[in-house]
Amino acid sequence: MSSLLPRNLRLSLFSATLAAAVFAPHAPAAPATISVQVDQPAHKISPMLWGLFFEDINLSVDSGLYPELVRNSSFEGSDHLRYWKFTPAPGESGPSLDDSKPLNAFNRHSLHVRPGSGTVLLNSGFWGMNFVAGETYRFSLAARVADNAKGKIKVELLDSADAVVASGQIDPSADSVWKVHGLTLVPAKSDPRGKLCLTLDGGGSVFLDMISLQPERTWKRSGVRPDLGEALHALKPAFFRFPGGCFVEGDYLADAYQWKYTLGDVASRTPQENVWDYLSTHGLGYHEYLQLSEDLGTEPVFCINVGMAHLESVPLDRIGPYIQDALDAIEYANGPVDSVWGALRAKNGHPEPFNLRYLEIGNENGGPDYLERWPLFVKAVKARYPDMILIANRWYNAFPKDPMPAIVDEHYYETPESFMRMSTQYDSYDRAGPKIFVGEYAVTKRAGHGNLRAALGEAAFMTGFERNADVVTMAAYAPILTNVNHRAWNPNLIVFDSARWYGIPSYYTQQMFSENAGDVTLPITVTSAELSQPEAHGRVGLGTWNSSAEFKDMKVTAPDGTVLYESDFAKKGLEGWSFAGPGEWQVVDGVLRQSVEKPKIRAMVGDTAWKDYDIQVKARKLSGREGFLVLFHLRHEEDRTGWNLGGWDNKYFNVGLDDSQDRVSGTIEAGQWHDLKVELRGGHVRCWLDGKLIHDHHSPELKIKSLYASATRDTATGDIIVKVVNAAEYPTETTINLSGAGNLSGQARAIVLTSENPADENSFDAPRKVAPRTEEITITGPRFTRSFPGNSLTVLRIPVTKQVHATTYP
Ligand code: AHR
Repeated sequence: MSSLLPRNLRLSLFSATLAAAVFAPHAPAAPATISVQVDQPAHKISPMLWGLFFEDINLSVDSGLYPELVRNSSFEGSDHLRYWKFTPAPGESGPSLDDSKPLNAFNRHSLHVRPGSGTVLLNSGFWGMNFVAGETYRFSLAARVADNAKGKIKVELLDSADAVVASGQIDPSADSVWKVHGLTLVPAKSDPRGKLCLTLDGGGSVFLDMISLQPERTWKRSGVRPDLGEALHALKPAFFRFPGGCFVEGDYLADAYQWKYTLGDVASRTPQENVWDYLSTHGLGYHEYLQLSEDLGTEPVFCINVGMAHLESVPLDRIGPYIQDALDAIEYANGPVDSVWGALRAKNGHPEPFNLRYLEIGNENGGPDYLERWPLFVKAVKARYPDMILIANRWYNAFPKDPMPAIVDEHYYETPESFMRMSTQYDSYDRAGPKIFVGEYAVTKRAGHGNLRAALGEAAFMTGFERNADVVTMAAYAPILTNVNHRAWNPNLIVFDSARWYGIPSYYTQQMFSENAGDVTLPITVTSAELSQPEAHGRVGLGTWNSSAEFKDMKVTAPDGTVLYESDFAKKGLEGWSFAGPGEWQVVDGVLRQSVEKPKIRAMVGDTAWKDYDIQVKARKLSGREGFLVLFHLRHEEDRTGWNLGGWDNKYFNVGLDDSQDRVSGTIEAGQWHDLKVELRGGHVRCWLDGKLIHDHHSPELKIKSLYASATRDTATGDIIVKVVNAAEYPTETTINLSGAGNLSGQARAIVLTSENPADENSFDAPRKVAPRTEEITITGPRFTRSFPGNSLTVLRIPVTKQVHATTYP
């Protein structure tokens, strides 16, 4: 069984990537067989099986679901003036931050403009604002004036070439105290990269806050961006877990999610420094998430902070307010309108209860702190709300047992082939134990930005959920959304920009399973060939994670001594290098320096065909929380296979090879140069630090099967549904035997997800390059053959005549 890795470990974990074909060409293996016992229906499939895990990550809310077009409209957070461009009036100083008379107690900063004869404020939103010709946009701002300001504010929408496409005017000159002004604008032209431009004049001082521009057209009551709301809806999810993820925890408790800060007037919500590297405005708060869940027709699953952040826990004697928060959250969602929190829900526009039935206690929490806190939450919640279904976290293969949870949430981020091997892991789960919520899973290694092979790995794993539907009752891919310009995590099911979205191949895998779930499993036996994984290969690289570091004297040598690469940063600079992540790389005094202390920073060089080699380099940490990385076997910019020195907050050295890794304790101090050497030979890696051997690691020989499958029945239609993943690169001729199905014959449907290359991805330009195609097929009897294309997922929907259906299924 695959281990559950701690978040930090997974965030920093390195693994190789699959680019082109995964397996060397093989002659097709012996034909495979799939036998389904149609007349022996087994477990019921939970109607909650396929759902959504929603996190405020990758700017999924601000810039995505929440349709505010202005970035940094409230001047809160640590980067108060960021995302605004100012052109001050001649002789005037530029706008500055003011906190002398805040808009309200929660919104303490405003913009102080001295307009003089004409000051211009420009905001481009999140990589451009989407203006659609003829649609209505609502503009508003809060203003107050002082020092005899007499001017008006010209409000203009500009297209990407700075031409005015709509305009209006606001007169704040009589506002000695804060007043909110609004107007509507209708662009004459469409442009996905528009801007908002405010021009102020008339002297004096003008104070501005909550500068907002939103399209009038939104999705249902939750008010989210329509195309993204539809994209979620089209997945036909059964539940909606929110709002994270690590977002719930934060690195420190001060940055943890507190639902009470997210209610009511947006101007009074307290933004959160999001662990995913931006400020969350909470434009979608607890109320809107409950509303969105309702609009999607799903069961809400709220994940509450348990008094634990990534780097600290609240002392047990101060846990009371966290428990009270959980009780109040339930009262907000469900309480009568004359209860304190139920009344607030009604005031916020939803007098009817939201019917919250599921509460997850913590996200990815574990260890002694969690084991102590779990019973306290359970006792308090169950005493007041005995019917609430409480979900516990599973961590490092451990979960709290006292009291025993109804449901345990476990998370997996692996390679495609690991997921294929994991398709049998639930076969051996304790049937007397808690039900399983596979609350987060995705192929994150060798996945590119979300490729076909990754989708097939997940599909193979998902066949295991269906076959073990008596244990696995809920599952959700993670995460769902990313702004294409802020991929803090990779991959993500839906990629969007200001105007468009596309689903990665995994999006279609999710949809194919949820649309073809069935409600009872049918026993299935699969016999297919065994395949080996190929050896890894790829470029080399250097990296940092929340640290700044320097590198010099890098040399890459083939086993026969041929020099593949030798650095000469002083003369050649960064010739041949490419970069990924938020790093700042420059050559300083002949040394390569990376100076930003942020996660996931990489520089890469060399040839993706390189397989066995030695890497030698000198490295020195300058500052930050961790050390540095030597990377290898890189085939995609998202690949991070390599040696991490000082990972996990400077506690470990870890080397990753395909699906295995070796980890030892280790720390890197700032200031000292170190000699690093990595030797790669097939599945064997050795790493030396200052001449001392740190890792000597052999990857085990790993196999996969060519076919993974599950079978279910849809009682309403009588359809038999067989899902088959062909993990081989070649078509697999398969005999399918639907035993006990009577004299089946007639038309059936095959829904097939495949593409020419397992590394194929979708994009804005080719959003359905990897998407399912449906074909009608003719079944000639309960035993038939089908050739499953290489690298494919097929859903076979086979109708059963009423006659057979009635006799087979009492
Ligand atoms: O899904 C992305 C992240 O993975 C989530 O925030 C966290 O729960 C996990 O580590």
